[in-house]
Amino acid sequence: MKQIQIPVQITEVEDPAELSSQEQELIAFSRNMTEKAYAPYSGFFVGAALLLENGEIVKGSNQENAAYPSGLCAERVAVFSASANFPGVRIKTIAISARSQKNKFDHPVSPCGACRQVLLEYEFNQKEPIRLLLSGISGKIYMVEKVRDLLPLSFTADDLG
Ligand code: THU
Repeated sequence: MKQIQIPVQITEVEDPAELSSQEQELIAFSRNMTEKAYAPYSGFFVGAALLLENGEIVKGSNQENAAYPSGLCAERVAVFSASANFPGVRIKTIAISARSQKNKFDHPVSPCGACRQVLLEYEFNQKEPIRLLLSGISGKIYMVEKVRDLLPLSFTADDLG
C-alpha cells in the first residue's frame, strides 16, 4: 500500500493590480455578467468571461428553468458559446464570479463538478492549459493555472482509446 499525493497549486491574489490588465478586465466582465444571470430559483448569480487566443471575449451567465435540471451554469453557457462560435480556437483564460441574493457570499466561487469536466474536455483537446480566475463580486481572487488542477484523477478521451 502506498499513498499518492496529488498537489494542487492555487494562487491567492489579494491585490488585482498584480494581474495583467487583460485579466483584470476579464474579472470585471465576469462580475458584470452576474447581473445578467437568470436565476430566479436559486438567487445565486454567476458570470463567466473567456479570453480566446484570437483576442475574442465570450461571456455567459447561469440560466435556470422551472424544470430545474434544464438550466445551465454560467461556465458552460460561456464555453459552449465559445466552441459554437469559434470552434477550435484555444481558450486562454476563464474568469468566473458569483454573488447571492440570499447570503453574503463573497469569496472565490468554485466551479461545479460538471463544469470542471466540460472545461477539461477543451483543455485536453487544445493541449494548452486554461487559466481560471475565481472570485466573488469583490475581494480576493483565486488563480488556478489549469483545469486539470481542479479535477485530479480525471476521465478524458484518452481513457476511451
Ligand atoms: N452555478 C453556476 O452557474 N456555476 C457554478 O460553478 C456553480 C453553480 C449556478 C447553477 C445554478 O443556476 C445556481 O448557480 C445554483 O446552483
